[in-house]
Amino acid sequence: MSGAGRPPPVRFPRDPAVSRTGPVAVPTGGPGTHEGRAPGKVILVGEHAVVYGYRAIAAAVDLFTTVRLHERPGRSEVEDTDIWDARLADALATLVPPEGVGVSISSDLPTGCGMGSSAALAVAAVRAAARREGRVASFEECFERGMAIERVFHGNPSGLDHTVSAMGGAVIYRRGERATPLRVATPIRLVVANTGAPGDTAEMVAGVRDRKPEVELLRIGALSEMVAARLALGRSVGPFLHEAHWLLRRIGVSTRELDELCRAMEAAGAEGAKLAGAGGGGIAIALVTPETEDAVRHAASRLVDDRVYAVSFGG
Ligand code: PMV
Repeated sequence: MSGAGRPPPVRFPRDPAVSRTGPVAVPTGGPGTHEGRAPGKVILVGEHAVVYGYRAIAAAVDLFTTVRLHERPGRSEVEDTDIWDARLADALATLVPPEGVGVSISSDLPTGCGMGSSAALAVAAVRAAARREGRVASFEECFERGMAIERVFHGNPSGLDHTVSAMGGAVIYRRGERATPLRVATPIRLVVANTGAPGDTAEMVAGVRDRKPEVELLRIGALSEMVAARLALGRSVGPFLHEAHWLLRRIGVSTRELDELCRAMEAAGAEGAKLAGAGGGGIAIALVTPETEDAVRHAASRLVDDRVYAVSFGG
């Protein structure tokens, strides 16, 4: 996704360009608000390679998007949103009928930076739509209907982002297979530094497709397998993250700013740092310990001001 701010209301197309998938919405007809909530994510290793059938590892983070649906007269409309993207109406038209629904979206997640804001929006919207039908959305429903939304934003998504958002926790994912929760024996703490320059996932994925860097993608896939095995044993994965970054750089998805951020966070004591997500901007993550966290945060904030977060998973 890209862009942020307070847009004018988004009207749904009367004749949605995107066809519906999954169960057809059956309006309850009753008053009230129906809510769905879902987390963002960070990709620990495996981005881009996952598009080509290699494994990737990602974890949900404690930042959420909430979608609320309520009945309203006339045309369906996004009445209030923290997320602005020109594709928003088309994406939601896969779930929300063109008439009779008001949508409001609130989000803690920065957009277009690799933290899964579109995936969290997708899963939250599927959950809200199911609530509106008096049901709780299953993982399968979140996956299938979430994929239709992710396709509007990203063209050819691997499905990793919204799988993690729907499952929560840490997962290892391979396209076409059901993701499995990943055992992480020792807690992982990451400093997340957001360059503030949004990257365009569809454009980054298309660039990699054109360049066909087969050797690097194969190696990134191998790193995912090794990182999964080491996380399960509670062993350090820092050097693997470091290598993943330089492979991502070789496949053309890093930027000077992301390289500088990774160098600075490693120089400040991080065990390994890499860009995370599609690249071209967005975030870098750094593996830290309680002893190194402050210094790494400080080094990152010298480059990206206050756009520094910390997330944990596992243990
Ligand atoms: O931009 P993000 O964080 O949503 O990352 C997408 C990850 C990619 O592997 C680049 C694309 C995909 O569909 O898996």
